[in-house]
Amino acid sequence: MIANEIREKINSKGASVIRKMFEEGIVLKKQYGDDNVFDFSLGNPDLDPPAEVVNAIQELAKDTSHGCHGYMPNAGYPETRTAIAEKISQEQGLKLSGNNVIITVGAASALNCVFKAILNKDDEVIVPAPFFAEYRHYVSNHLGNLIEVPSKEGFNLDIEAIKSKLSEKTAAILINNPNNPTGKIYSEADIKALAEALNENGDRTGRYPYLICDEPYRAIVYDGAKVTPAFQYYKNAVVVSSFAKDLSLPGERIGYIAINPQSDEPDEFIKAATFALRVLGCVNAPAFFQKVIAKSWNAKVDYSSYRNRRDKLMAILDNAGIEYYRPEGAFYLFCKVPEKFNGDDMAFCDYLKKYLILGAPGNGFGGKGWFRLAYCVSEKSIVNSEKAFVKAMTEL
Ligand SMILES: Cc1ncc(COP(=O)(O)O)c(C=O)c1O
Repeated sequence: MIANEIREKINSKGASVIRKMFEEGIVLKKQYGDDNVFDFSLGNPDLDPPAEVVNAIQELAKDTSHGCHGYMPNAGYPETRTAIAEKISQEQGLKLSGNNVIITVGAASALNCVFKAILNKDDEVIVPAPFFAEYRHYVSNHLGNLIEVPSKEGFNLDIEAIKSKLSEKTAAILINNPNNPTGKIYSEADIKALAEALNENGDRTGRYPYLICDEPYRAIVYDGAKVTPAFQYYKNAVVVSSFAKDLSLPGERIGYIAINPQSDEPDEFIKAATFALRVLGCVNAPAFFQKVIAKSWNAKVDYSSYRNRRDKLMAILDNAGIEYYRPEGAFYLFCKVPEKFNGDDMAFCDYLKKYLILGAPGNGFGGKGWFRLAYCVSEKSIVNSEKAFVKAMTEL
């Protein structure tokens, strides 16, 4: 028999709505033709992986040496951990070693390992809303409670509201920068203020919560925007990420965890998260792609086509009369549900479906009254969607 809790979760709304939209999109495309359905439901990058990745795959595929497909230490191949340590050192402006890194099965597995490692039953994880819908499951998987704190105007962090939720039960605050679903990049001042709030909590309660920075979109930024290196401001900071979005490898399931070497107990943290990776059944990240990444993690990728697509879609929405937050990174546009729908994002996404436009309702992301359009789709699809958007808004 299926467990009641899981039965409830699979029938509940939220992230499953996005998957449902994506699957409905496949059916609609069969019915109406690929070119006539405008599927903005899923964050599946449509750039091909860069040449450095493809070359590494081809070269490594020729390797037939004994043991090359075997197990390795659970935390990953030493050379891959060292390569990621170099990457994070460059991003954070602070020296890490391979011992501060674990290679994981994507960012999703990285987050689950971190939560398994740090959460006691009923511990709290604070998250600024809107947020990546799966966070709810990742935290509840490990018996924690997700505490949603709505963001301020312009999706800036509401530091005072976050402060009011901090306590000795707070195991972590989880930020996603650039953010899915808004494309927001948090300002340096906000990260600094957040770090101060976490330090105050530590001084008051003896518990310095982890600051978990989920950064799979770090490289995909526009107009010279920068993602603040949190390690410089807060000792108990952790980066979780993957190569799903920046190197277009979501299906290969390769990611990592990196702990600030200045944190309270970095070696214990790595031991605990490595144990979690093992007992959650991943054992280790895929061997082949660990080797690919060791060779190609610093591939140069031109993200300007995402910027072009963002600009084209923003112009279309302007024309149709749909309001949105102007994204500074990632490849999502978070849009306001028109007034006529009284904030009912689900109903508006259903309405758009009649015009063969697929978007994701904001409620699942903790952003009621909004909906998300993932513009990592072909430029042609974006351009062709204009008529449908204008028609849908005119016929409201
Ligand atoms: C914010 C965020 N975190 C984590 C993930 C999971 O990434 P991965 O596919 O590397 O597990 C995603 C995927 O969409 C995401 O948007």
